Amino acid sequence: MATDVLDVLRTKRDGGTLTDEQIRFFLDGYTAGTIADEQAAALLMAIVWRGLDRRELSTWTAAMIASGERLDLSSVGRPTVDKHSTGGVGDKVSLVLVPLVAACGAAVPQLSGRGLGHTGGTLDKLESIPGWRAALSNAEVLALLGEVGAVICAAGDGLAPADRRLYALRDVTATVEAVPLIASSIMAKKIAEGTDALVLDVKVGAGAFLPSLEQARILAETMVGLGADHGVRTVALLTDMEAPLGRACGNALEVVEAIEVLQGGGPPDVRALTLSLAAEMLGLAGLGSADPAAALDDGSALDTLDRMVRAQGGDPDGPLEQAEHVRTVPSPAAGFVRRLDARAVGVAAWRLGAGRARKEDPVSAAAGVVCLAKPGDPVEAGQPLLELHAEDEARFDAAVAALAGAVEIGPEPAEPRPLIIDRIA
Ligand code: URA
Repeated sequence: MATDVLDVLRTKRDGGTLTDEQIRFFLDGYTAGTIADEQAAALLMAIVWRGLDRRELSTWTAAMIASGERLDLSSVGRPTVDKHSTGGVGDKVSLVLVPLVAACGAAVPQLSGRGLGHTGGTLDKLESIPGWRAALSNAEVLALLGEVGAVICAAGDGLAPADRRLYALRDVTATVEAVPLIASSIMAKKIAEGTDALVLDVKVGAGAFLPSLEQARILAETMVGLGADHGVRTVALLTDMEAPLGRACGNALEVVEAIEVLQGGGPPDVRALTLSLAAEMLGLAGLGSADPAAALDDGSALDTLDRMVRAQGGDPDGPLEQAEHVRTVPSPAAGFVRRLDARAVGVAAWRLGAGRARKEDPVSAAAGVVCLAKPGDPVEAGQPLLELHAEDEARFDAAVAALAGAVEIGPEPAEPRPLIIDRIA
């Protein structure tokens, strides 16, 4: 019997299970333009309510991958392994981790998207380096992986094109926050990128895409299962995103902090998380005896970043933009910082110009927030807690408004939160 689009919609609407044929018919038709946006929107909303079981989700993801090309990295000559983060505030880990893992002998093909909303994108951060170019051909990606072992670039239009159309539709139909849709969207792009193995950094807490531990765990388990179904060895770490990671939030500000970590210094949480993720990646790549801490301390990871940036047209020694206007937010009382809300800091950085509301908006390289005090730190009344950077002074009021209630000061420090909450394999 011929597959019918209305049957697909009715089946999911009524809580039934879709066949593999129905799923392929739907995603192929939507990518080819023979199934309309309103029909796809109806199916997405039915999936939000009814879900997809493991077999349906695996087929859904396979069909998204098959809508485009799957890169073949077999000529690279090193084991390939990548990392994906579900997005956090001040999360500059990729800038350190990608060259670090490459310096330890693996090849890291990080094909990324841009930041949207209150979390920043790695491509936007790297674009604050003068001359650096995000768009590379597949041939350039392969050459860089062979020569340097590391590449961070924009995912081309050929990777999982069904996801690009579906994601744009989800964005305007309130169907983004559904675990099967998020998991398939992330994993289809990562699997299509051709990596042999993948480590997922699934954020939990105020600044995370899905703040609750329960939802983050389900997302992590679902993505690890999809990796296994598609032959990509996958491990997930659930990590804390209640407060921003490190101190700097904003594109050029984060590049400076990432370089400090690559020089063996930097904020301890950024170093610790990077080293935990590196150990997982190297383990999956069969390079578990490598010593990533030594590669940070001896400069070899920094040297790999320099080579990667130069190969993509950037000048690693070039001047980074600095904001013309800087304003501080003082502590209202003496005591200890008990809480610093990552989402509020992310929204403030975004309002200062560091992020975009629509994907075609420009971002400011220099704008952002520096957290001068973090949870656990003692502070005096009036001491600067946050430093706001902007190119346009008119942006300060909206950023300060976003920070109302974001910092809690108390007489005692709060119990420290673990950075790594759980590991799912
Ligand atoms: N990031 C993605 O790539 N897809 C989603 O659905 C959500 C976050």
